[in-house]
Amino acid sequence: MKTLFYLKRIGVGILVLALLVLGYIYTAAHFTLYKSYDVPLKTSFEVPNDSASIAEGFRQTRIAHCNGCHQDDFSGRIFHEDDQVGKLVASNVTQLVQDYSDVELYRFLRTGVKKNGEIAAIMPFDMYSNYTDETIGDIIAYLRTLEPIENEGLPEKSELGFFIKMALAFKMFDLEAKVQEVLSKVEQPVEYEPSDQISFGKYLASTACSNCHGQDFQGGEMGDSPAPPLSIIKIYSKDQFHNMIRTGETLTKGDKSKMTDLARSCLKYFHDEEVDAIYTFLNTLESPAITDASLNN
Ligand code: HEC
Ligand code: HEC
Repeated sequence: MKTLFYLKRIGVGILVLALLVLGYIYTAAHFTLYKSYDVPLKTSFEVPNDSASIAEGFRQTRIAHCNGCHQDDFSGRIFHEDDQVGKLVASNVTQLVQDYSDVELYRFLRTGVKKNGEIAAIMPFDMYSNYTDETIGDIIAYLRTLEPIENEGLPEKSELGFFIKMALAFKMFDLEAKVQEVLSKVEQPVEYEPSDQISFGKYLASTACSNCHGQDFQGGEMGDSPAPPLSIIKIYSKDQFHNMIRTGETLTKGDKSKMTDLARSCLKYFHDEEVDAIYTFLNTLESPAITDASLNN
């Protein structure tokens, strides 16, 4: 009888503990996601409206793979749905930008902070924080040409699954640190030397590859398919790299790589000189010994 009594108590104890942990996960994830950041707006930001800048802005949104999540016409879509991660909704940008001023759009692209002060957590805002003001201006110029499109049935926001909430609550996905890192450099102008291949290539890689391959290009977690350190470039000749960026044909996975769709719908918009510069820069990265295992990842 006594044993049964103790077992029951242990059972109740475990249940209470489980509920407390769950409560913590949901509350902590909620506060992290809906935290409001007070980032002052610039007093003014000049957005160009000539056709060359608009065309350049369009090209930049492709390279930045905005279309991969928001669709080619920016009307938004559910771009991922499963039990663990949840339902991820990329907003209908065509409607939302109508309510944004230029300085609000500038702040959004520079920091990920939305008009309402919250962070666009699922967007690769840390990658976009690497843009020069000139590129941000071109992107805004292009976004300004979008006519509002109705996208009926598009949920207003994402519903994050348990796995993501847990990752947020226990800081395996440390959103707050990522935001602070971005905010700490918001005042520093982004600059590079266009005539220096390494400086130019580093800039391009930081704005087009870093969200998956890491801000230091040492590789990144991507759920079931991690992105390798970009020193993997050493197995590519310059021609093979150009071919990969144009066609999505990778050396180790052919056209079955995560890079395939990305190259075909986004990276192909790079100019040849840009691909050359990225290749030159990536070749300066120290390799953390490329092993057979890292190639099979
Ligand atoms: C990985 C997918 C992804 C990519 C890539 C992406 N976005 Fe988003 N975007 C989202 C999600 C998800 C939201 C909803 C954010 C939220 O409310 O938390 C969003 C929201 C927005 C918003 C609305 C902000 C608001 O006030 O609600 C704008 C504008 C926007 N994105 C523009 C862009 C532009 C421009 C690019 C490319 C430079 C881009 N996005 C790239 C996923 C993405
Ligand atoms: C949206 C995420 C994402 C972005 C952005 C991205 N990559 Fe990748 N990349 C991956 C993943 C994931 C892999 C490894 C898994 C695979 O190939 O499916 C990979 C693999 C690679 C490989 C190895 C291919 C091979 O032969 O195995 C190279 C080289 C590469 N990426 C270069 C780049 C460069 C350069 C950029 C920027 C111009 C870039 N990637 C941007 C996700 C990304």
